Amino acid sequence: MSWILEESDFDPNRITTNGNKFMIGNGAMGYRGTLEEFTKEQLTACTLAGLYDKVGDQWREPINAPNGLSTILICNGEKLSLLTTPYESHRQSLNIRNATFQRQTVFTAPGGNKIEVKSQRFVSMEQLNLIVMKVEITSSEDCELIVQTGIDGDVWDINGPHLENYETTERDGIIGLSTVTHELRQPVTIAEAIAWDGYVEQGYIDNSTSIYRGISIACEAGKTYGFTKYVAISFDSSNEQQSLDDVYSLVHKASKESYSIHLGRHEQHWERKWELSDVVIEGDDDAQFALRYSMYQLHIIAPTKSEKVSIPARGLSGQVYKGAVFWDTEMFMLPFFLYSQPDVARNLVMYRVHTLDGARRKAAEYGFRGAYYAWESQDTGDDACTLFNITDVFTDRPMRTYFRDKQVHISADAAHGIWQYYEFTGDKSVLFDGGAEVILECARFFYSYAYYKEDKQRYEVLDVTGPDEYHERVNNNAFTNALVGQTLEIALQTLELLETEHPEIYEDLIRRLDFKQDKENMIRMYGKLYMPQPDPNTLVIEQFDGYSKLEDIELKQLKSKILNKNEYLGGGNGLATTTQILKQADVVLMLHLFKSRYSHEVKKANWEYYEPRTEHGSSLSSCIYALVASDIGYADWAYNYFLRTATIDLTGESKQYVGTLYIGGTHPAANGGAWMAAILGFAGVHLNRGVVILNPSLPERWQSIAFSIHVSGQKFQITVSDTEAHIRSDEVNALEQSFRLGLQTIKLEPGSSHTFQYVGKGNGDELAG
Ligand code: BGC
Repeated sequence: MSWILEESDFDPNRITTNGNKFMIGNGAMGYRGTLEEFTKEQLTACTLAGLYDKVGDQWREPINAPNGLSTILICNGEKLSLLTTPYESHRQSLNIRNATFQRQTVFTAPGGNKIEVKSQRFVSMEQLNLIVMKVEITSSEDCELIVQTGIDGDVWDINGPHLENYETTERDGIIGLSTVTHELRQPVTIAEAIAWDGYVEQGYIDNSTSIYRGISIACEAGKTYGFTKYVAISFDSSNEQQSLDDVYSLVHKASKESYSIHLGRHEQHWERKWELSDVVIEGDDDAQFALRYSMYQLHIIAPTKSEKVSIPARGLSGQVYKGAVFWDTEMFMLPFFLYSQPDVARNLVMYRVHTLDGARRKAAEYGFRGAYYAWESQDTGDDACTLFNITDVFTDRPMRTYFRDKQVHISADAAHGIWQYYEFTGDKSVLFDGGAEVILECARFFYSYAYYKEDKQRYEVLDVTGPDEYHERVNNNAFTNALVGQTLEIALQTLELLETEHPEIYEDLIRRLDFKQDKENMIRMYGKLYMPQPDPNTLVIEQFDGYSKLEDIELKQLKSKILNKNEYLGGGNGLATTTQILKQADVVLMLHLFKSRYSHEVKKANWEYYEPRTEHGSSLSSCIYALVASDIGYADWAYNYFLRTATIDLTGESKQYVGTLYIGGTHPAANGGAWMAAILGFAGVHLNRGVVILNPSLPERWQSIAFSIHVSGQKFQITVSDTEAHIRSDEVNALEQSFRLGLQTIKLEPGSSHTFQYVGKGNGDELAG
């Protein structure tokens, strides 16, 4: 089965899409899949994780580093570029197994000379601030070739320029560029060393923001000339800040070792990643590739070493969406990491601990207590979301949106993530290291946000926006209420755990947070929190108070009223606002999260009700419909929604621009959703009170799906086919683990295995015996 993504021609209209699709990265840096001769005009970018900058009144966004791979080839005076030079062939590919990008172009230079250019690059998984690239050039005839390669400081910015005080340097054959960020004056330095295959004369071209080396080669026909570039970037203020001297010595040292040695080390990390996370599907090559590609996209943006950054909604594919971290991470990406790499999952949830003060500031700003997490979170946890977050396409005026003010579920999502990590791993250190504090502060926020209705004798959560952003400022959004309830529940469980097992930590926390009274409040509110229930006749759970009274228009009819393809359907006078059309999974997401709370009939009734009314205006929607479709046995629907989510960054068929604003990029939540649809949906894996439950419902053409999972620090291999589910507990495991399929529960000893038999497609509840 192929691990290679390839395009075998060049289409200028796909430059932007391919920049996302062919991206490489290592969680600290993302490098877009553009070509070496491209510039900011083609959205070339090396996006840095966790470093943000603001210029003037424009919004804060992450920083794109100077481009250390920039390379211009000039043959007999003609610049070779796919944008302008005739070419005989072009191929570019991405190997998702080892995260390398390669291009192979045969240019036709004036006079008919064929010049083949091959390059390969990777962002090192071994050394997180290193990028290595090798280039090889072969000409069919003798020619004069000039290679200009260096660091292009003229970077693509949406709201920049973010870098200032450019200083170029050259020392002992190494070139460097140092800059500082506009707002926080943080240094961003970059150095490049090169290893040539002999034969060169050198000179430097320095235009104050960029520095290149110019090399002239008298090329002999048929002979291959090559070089390797070693580029190091220092920017990470939260770890050790490296000076230009440090990056100089880093690339100097790196250049003493060959490309293949560096590649070998990088590949070892990737081998390990796939060993932990690979999923093998028999019988469906397209689904197999799309799923692996989705996991690849998550691997290249996951923070492996830092707990101060999380994953932005558009990954590291540029400055889009302000490089902000949304609920996407906890609710859509975290499960993949929890099951495959719990150490990365820990980093992701610890990000909320490091941004707790920002969340406290936001709660205070709105007059609440506790922690109200940023809807769009950056380095400090202060909210990057603006009050007027959308521009009306008809009037060009900013529209008031309430994402920042009213999507209170974000605090519940943060607490949910931390608790999930604890439940999956049993690692209590996350609670001691600040996780417990986050959970308690989130619960406190909800207590101060909710209303006690004296007449109804219950707490209600009023004036919120749920996942469906087309309906803002609603009361008792079922999803939000369920998550608020869960936050209270886990806050109480956290307190109980600490009080019984670690009384000194418990006492300290209660005292430091002044939580004694709050604990009483939590207990009272938890017992009396209103949870919207299924209608006794239809079993449908109303999305929020009064939803069912809104106009029940067909989606097709609503869409026929659209005047501008970029118009916003929500907000003050959006087309969907007065109707039952929703942007994305809302009640259905709740059914997935609390799957053991709802009967098959309730799930079915709600899936069927909400599915035709969902516009899927967010890439977070399809995977949830896939998950619940699997749960209720609608395998075909599940499969179609799975493919939609798994191919999103392969087809590039999502919105790329609103007006002139680029909003494209990769879709990590959908990537995580593809993994969830396959493992939690089709294989039906689910952890409930320490028991791993399987409820398989494989798509028609899948013969089997095989994968590993980590639970409580132990590893299990699972293969699910149409009729059986085979589980093996790793030899190195120390504990027994319970598994359940249908009515059968077994305990698996370390090193042993078990095969559950079950009947046919669809519902794993039907046991063969
Ligand atoms: C969705 C949000 C999501 C955000 C970032 C929006 O379109 O409605 O739920 O968090 O995009 O992906």
